[in-house]
Amino acid sequence: MINNTKKNKSLKPFTTFGFEARARYFAAPETLDEIENLLADAQKSDIPLFILGGGSNVVFACDFDGLVICPRIGGIKVVDEDGEHVLLKAGAGVVWDDFVRYAVEHNLGGVENLSAIPGNVGASPVQNIGAYGMEAKDSLVAVNGVFIENGKQFTLENAECRFAYRDSIFKNELKRKTVVTHVVFKLSKNPEYKLDYGNLKDELSKYDEINLRRIRQSVIAIRASKLPDPKDLGNAGSFFKNPIVDRTEANRLLELYPSMPVYPADSSGKVKLSAGWMIEKCSLKGYRENNIGVHRQQALVLVNYGEGTASELIAFAQMMQTIVFEKFGVIIEPEVNIIN
Ligand code: EPU
Repeated sequence: MINNTKKNKSLKPFTTFGFEARARYFAAPETLDEIENLLADAQKSDIPLFILGGGSNVVFACDFDGLVICPRIGGIKVVDEDGEHVLLKAGAGVVWDDFVRYAVEHNLGGVENLSAIPGNVGASPVQNIGAYGMEAKDSLVAVNGVFIENGKQFTLENAECRFAYRDSIFKNELKRKTVVTHVVFKLSKNPEYKLDYGNLKDELSKYDEINLRRIRQSVIAIRASKLPDPKDLGNAGSFFKNPIVDRTEANRLLELYPSMPVYPADSSGKVKLSAGWMIEKCSLKGYRENNIGVHRQQALVLVNYGEGTASELIAFAQMMQTIVFEKFGVIIEPEVNIIN
């Protein structure tokens, strides 16, 4: 028995795919103290824990026989400022796009290309959210949190978070071992805009003057044209990651498919392929089986047309992985976190 929790709670409204799954216990703590108490109770009862952010990158494959904690710590605070920069500390439960809007409205640059990404601030370092040539790691200073095992607080500086493309220490060594409580970002009063990403450049070329608000509006417009709104159609953004391969592997594929898009990856010498392009080339874009399908405008996005289930989605995704592997010899890995 865990105090201050709801029992047998449906997680459907807390995940953007909208699949039915239940948590044995569920809590949405608003303070660090509440989180620490819940962790201590869960430890005593020896039950599994899952920390759920905005639910925009997670699929529960079945009911969760443990405690789901949905941190709701709010607030955006200026913690330091000089002539060039402002340090903002945001609670893990702040809706990510509210944080971006706050930054843009205060003329602070560094997260504007990350407009309209679903989810909460607390999840932003976990998968190092990214879009249009910008990633959370570019402006993130530190992550504050609590270790699940002993309730001790920690601060991890940017370099300690081991950020990479859609990756961090929180998905590796610290996977399911921490609760993020706050994230600190360093934003710029005189930002250099990042406008090189194809679509964004095209969208902004319509305007003579470019500023943070315009960039935000353009990103929102591009996203709205390609990515379904979870309020209308269940989805979790990109379901697969773009695969990162060696140059030799990319060259092998480029000989077979000269028009295949390739992008330089973070780590030297490696290349990022476009999973969306490969899926489209397998004629899977827009393909649908019962209630699960590939979105018509963006092949990386899988959608729940209404009454789909997590097991249907998982089988569908495996079918896609097999087809892409048979054609290209490349494994496409889910970006979405599947909880069994
Ligand atoms: N492409 C296709 N067909 C498709 C989708 C993409 O051919 O159906 C090819 C095209 O060549 C296109 C290129 O892929 O020019 C890039 O497409 P897009 O700009 O849509 O980006 P993406 O690589 O498919 C990634 C992120 C998105 C992010 C966009 C923009 C991942 C896994 N996904 O998608 O992030 O919004 O770039 O930066 O890295 C998310 O993580 O949930 C997400 C939506």
